[in-house]
Amino acid sequence: MERLQKVIARSGVASRRKAEELITTGHVEVNGEKVLELGVKVKDNDVVTVDGVKIDREERVYYLLNKPRGVITSTKDEHHRKTVVDLIDDSRRIYPVGRLDYDTTGAIIITNDGELANLLMHPKSMIDKVYIAKIEGVLSPSDIMKLKRGLVIDGVKTSKSKVKIKRHDKVSNTSIVEITIHEGKNHQVKKMFEAVGTKVIKLKREKYSFLDVNDLKSGEYRKLNPKEVQKLYGEVKNTR
Ligand code: URA
Repeated sequence: MERLQKVIARSGVASRRKAEELITTGHVEVNGEKVLELGVKVKDNDVVTVDGVKIDREERVYYLLNKPRGVITSTKDEHHRKTVVDLIDDSRRIYPVGRLDYDTTGAIIITNDGELANLLMHPKSMIDKVYIAKIEGVLSPSDIMKLKRGLVIDGVKTSKSKVKIKRHDKVSNTSIVEITIHEGKNHQVKKMFEAVGTKVIKLKREKYSFLDVNDLKSGEYRKLNPKEVQKLYGEVKNTR
């Protein structure tokens, strides 16, 4: 038995607070009966609808994938390219949390828990995402400062980041840089380096929050355990 508002939130239809509002304002029915009070618990086989639309009540699953290059972060592609969901042997309606570019590799969560996905992607969620970027040339101390303080991309200032120079290869004149950000703007890391006059040659997301893909080969995935799922919910509690 689970609380009705939790069931609605998990389906991704609304946050828990909004789900409570939907219940008290008469939008929710359980087995065809309108429910107006909070605290009602529902069984697995109860049919829950919001404005007449049935809520998805599948068991929740959570995967961590080490995304390879050449795969899109979506559930479907109109050009029939392979998606991250195609890599996972699960027939439920799972989807990726956030986005990695076609040529970016590394950590991505795939789930059917709409509540957690929405919370993690919320602009206030402040989840650390650690990237390793291979870039052209060397960063000057002033470039590093700009990246750390935040700079303007697409007319919006990025928030602070952490930057560590790992290596510089004199022969190829490339550098390996670790950059930690907590936003998820489109092509953010590439655009940040572009804004300081350099180009990203290769990009890998090393870590998503506390989850790394060190034990997963490219294209491999594993299920998150209940403790990890709980910890992820803990990381986003400030956005609820
Ligand atoms: N920033 C990018 O530029 N690309 C990604 O895939 C992720 C972050």
